[in-house]
Amino acid sequence: MRTQEDKEKILDRYKPSKYLVGAVTPSMVEYLLEYFRGSEKIIKYKQAGSQGPVVMNYSPDRDEKQEWFNPVQELVWDILGSNCYVWGSNIFRVEKPHIAHNDDYEEKIYPIYKTLVLPLEISKATNFVTFDQAYLDGPVKLFRGYDPVPESFYNKSLTDYSNIINYTDEPFDKETHQKYLSHIPYEALHGLTVEKVIPWVPGNAIIFDMGRIHSASNFVAEGITHKIGYSIFTAKEFN
Ligand SMILES: [Fe+2]
Repeated sequence: MRTQEDKEKILDRYKPSKYLVGAVTPSMVEYLLEYFRGSEKIIKYKQAGSQGPVVMNYSPDRDEKQEWFNPVQELVWDILGSNCYVWGSNIFRVEKPHIAHNDDYEEKIYPIYKTLVLPLEISKATNFVTFDQAYLDGPVKLFRGYDPVPESFYNKSLTDYSNIINYTDEPFDKETHQKYLSHIPYEALHGLTVEKVIPWVPGNAIIFDMGRIHSASNFVAEGITHKIGYSIFTAKEFN
């Protein structure tokens, strides 16, 4: 478990989420899509018992350093500074929007830093929602009010929200729920407030603190059949 002191260090360096328009060139987007399409490393987690999306995992510390990753590493350093490192990443293709969750890590206690999301393919623009709340006791999906509570493949299924940082215990904003998050049962958003609604568009880079709760908007309701994106998880030592 992460100590209280470590949590405070993580929270001390929290910044508002942001996005950079045009941070990723069309050729870089194509480069990543090509790699995803041609990769033999695509893992169908479904075969391992997950209901989750098709993903391709890449972690510098698990695989041998592969040349294809070098341009990604340069991009990460350009955007986040060269004093952070990548500990994992995945290219995912989803037909259902992600629900509210954080991006913490289970196996090791990293000094978690930022998630960088690079939208790669979608038929039209959609959105991505970050919340004012964070959770620093491991990877979670937010399932308050679900009956039954779904099993989660990697993240813990969280139904007791009392350890969520900045938890309000107030009902979620109904208009925002209808507009962006109608794929999530209303009760599961109890106690959360929206930090930002960020355009999910190829070329943009979305940056947020890894413990921060975030969610896709309901792109299915917008007539979008699938999206492909690249999530990159980083760590940074404390000073
Ligand atoms: Fe995430």
